[in-house]
Amino acid sequence: MAEHRFIVSHYSHSLHSGTVSWQSPSNIALIKYWGKYGQQLPMNPSVSFTLNNCHTRTSLSFERKNTEGFEFEVYLDGKREEGFEPKIQKFFERVEVYLPFLADYKFKIETFNSFPHSSGIASSASGMSALALCLVSMEEQLALDYMDDYFFEKASFLARLGSGSACRSIQGPLIVWGEHPEIDGSSNLFGTKYPFEIHPIFTNFQDTILLVDKSEKQVSSSLGHNLMLDHPFAEQRFRQAKDNLLKLIPVFKSGDLSEFIKIVESEALSLHAMMMTSIPYFILMKPNTLEIINRIWKFREETASNVCFTLDAGANVHVLYPQSEKDFVQNFIKDELSQFCKNGEFILDEVGFGAKKIQL
Ligand code: DP6
Repeated sequence: MAEHRFIVSHYSHSLHSGTVSWQSPSNIALIKYWGKYGQQLPMNPSVSFTLNNCHTRTSLSFERKNTEGFEFEVYLDGKREEGFEPKIQKFFERVEVYLPFLADYKFKIETFNSFPHSSGIASSASGMSALALCLVSMEEQLALDYMDDYFFEKASFLARLGSGSACRSIQGPLIVWGEHPEIDGSSNLFGTKYPFEIHPIFTNFQDTILLVDKSEKQVSSSLGHNLMLDHPFAEQRFRQAKDNLLKLIPVFKSGDLSEFIKIVESEALSLHAMMMTSIPYFILMKPNTLEIINRIWKFREETASNVCFTLDAGANVHVLYPQSEKDFVQNFIKDELSQFCKNGEFILDEVGFGAKKIQL
C-alpha cells in the first residue's frame, strides 16, 4: 500500500524535550473537493490557490513521558481550548500508525490565527496543516534522514487525515489534490504542486474575503461530504470537476481570464447546487451572498474588469482578481460590496507560497 512509505521504521535519535513552530496558510479551492470516501480520500481531484495573509501559527512543545496514552493540551491565543481537544484526540488516533512516538510525549499545542475565530473562515486547513508540519518536524529530528520532498508529502498526507482541504495548505501557489490522469504525480493521499506552466498573472492573484456571515458552520463539512455518497448527481459532479480541472490547464498557462472566470464561478455554483439537491438539502448562501454575486456580474459587464467570485461551504464570498486591477476592484469592494458584509468587514488576501518554519 502506498501509505506504507509514510511509516518510518527506525528512529536513530532520541529527544527529551523541545519546541517546533510553523506558520501555515489557508487555501481557496478553484475546483472544489466535495465528496470523500475511506479515510479522507477525495471523490474528485481539486486545485486551490494557497493564500498568504490568512494563516495559523502553531508551536508544539514536547516532553518525554513514561505513561500510556496520549497527553496534550491545546491553547488558542494563549487560552486553553478544551473544546478543540476531542478533534486533536481523534487526529492523534488516526495518525499514530504514521507517528509512533505520539504516545511517548506530553504535548502543549499553542495556536494563533491571523484572522478572528468568529469570522466564519474555517481554520481547519491552516490549523491542521500547521500541526502536521510541527509533528513532521519533530519526527525529522528523531529520524534525521528525511528528504525535502518526503517532508512536505508526509506533512500534507497527515494534514489530510486531519481535514481534507488542509493537505493543500503546505506549499503554493497552486496545489492539486486527488488523482487526475493528465496531471503527473497527482495523488489522493496528499497535495502536490501544480506541475505545469503557470502564467505570472496567477502568482499574485488577489482574494478578498467578504464576511457575509460570521456564525459557526450550519452544516459540518464531513456531513456535507457524506451526502455526496448517495447523491443523485454524484457521478456527473465528480466527472465535471475532473473536466473542469483539465480545462484549467491551458488557462493557467495562457492567463486567459475570461475562461478562468467561467470555470471558477461555475465550480462555486455547482458546489452549492450539490448542497441544495442532497437529502437532506440545505442552502448556505444568504441574501447578501446573492446580492454580492449580482453586483460582481454587473460591475464586470459595465467595466470589463476581470473580477470574479468563488464560495466555500458557507455564505462568505471570495472575490478574485488580478493584481493589475487591485486599486480598481478594492475601491469597488469598499464602495459597493462592503455594505453587504457583517459590520462592513472583509479580509484582503492574495496568493502565497506555502507554510514557513518559525525559527525559535
Ligand atoms: C467546500 O476540508 O473542510 O471548502 O475533509 O471533512 O475536513 P473535511 O472537509 P473540508 O472540506 C472543504 C470543502 C470545501 C471545498 C474545498 O476546499 O475544496
